[in-house]
Amino acid sequence: MICIGIEGTAEKTGVGIVDSDGGILASCGNPLIPESGGIHPREAAEHHAAAIVPLIKDALKESKLNIDDIDLVAFSRGPGLGPGLRTTATAARSLALSLNVPIVGVNHCIGHVEIGKLTTGAEDPVSLYVSGGNTQVIAFESERYRVFGETLDIAIGNCLDQFARDVGLGHPGGPEVEKLAGKAKEYIKLPYAVKGMDLSFSGLLTAALRKYEGGSPLSDVCYSLQETAFSMLVEVTERALAHTKKREVLLCGGVAANSRLREMVSIMAEEHFAEFYMPPMKYCGDNGAMIAWMGQLMYKYGLTQQIEDTTVIQKYRTDQVDVPWMHKSKK
Ligand code: ATP
Ligand code: FE2
Repeated sequence: MICIGIEGTAEKTGVGIVDSDGGILASCGNPLIPESGGIHPREAAEHHAAAIVPLIKDALKESKLNIDDIDLVAFSRGPGLGPGLRTTATAARSLALSLNVPIVGVNHCIGHVEIGKLTTGAEDPVSLYVSGGNTQVIAFESERYRVFGETLDIAIGNCLDQFARDVGLGHPGGPEVEKLAGKAKEYIKLPYAVKGMDLSFSGLLTAALRKYEGGSPLSDVCYSLQETAFSMLVEVTERALAHTKKREVLLCGGVAANSRLREMVSIMAEEHFAEFYMPPMKYCGDNGAMIAWMGQLMYKYGLTQQIEDTTVIQKYRTDQVDVPWMHKSKK
């Protein structure tokens, strides 16, 4: 059984091919890099429209398969930007109909967790999923993946990107902020906003920008922004770990590229005698392989759809999804 997965929730188009044993046969991606400013939803959709067919060809080449070898089509159903989701779903429907194979729309956030487990060997982790569009602490409890904490406003990646853009560092901002943070001399106090188990980054972003405008050295502001935001993320992850009593912590999403965040999360895990896991960078950010692997998991439990039911869900919640493969492994 061979599944092709198409990803298009944000600005990166991804196509992956995965077999039913979790063998990743191909994973090809193509990000939209804006000349200036942020990502416009319509432009992201146009990018997906142009990139999907070439990426399908690349993925088939990488996997040494023919299009007729595909037995199942999976696509990211949400959460994400509406225009891009609809473009991706349309491509997936056309492919499934022309090949006469089943189709399944999957949850993007759970895709990050499942590809993380597949590529690291983690079995039942507390996951910290941090990207440009999402910030969630996820763990399996009471038959579902539950969100133990999440951002109440902007995602951590978006916070770093917006900061970088406003101070003239370009897009994406995360890597630039990290580089400058390494040159910092001192920590500047910034607002720390953990509310219950949830997080807020917009006040922190504004405060960091005000510090820079007020004359604080950019490297010090970058360092302080990272230290404050990452401490908030680690606090919520730590509390979820203590509550669930799990033994594993998984860090995933594009912001996992940050070595300081990795260090902080791994120290916290160690202090709780939990294993720390992080997928290879290729599978941390958005990718098609995670969608294809989710397709395999859903198919195994009969969760494919009729074409007319393959509508997208822009605000698709992590805890909306039945995950029977987890029930079985827990019994
Ligand atoms: P999603 O659809 O899951 O929200 P995305 O479109 O944001 O994903 P990803 O590749 O998962 O795509 O993540 C990109 C984010 O990761 C950007 O916000 C970018 O600034 C951030 N990032 C990349 N490298 C680093 C780094 N070294 N430090 C901090 N952030 C980073
Ligand atoms: Fe993502």
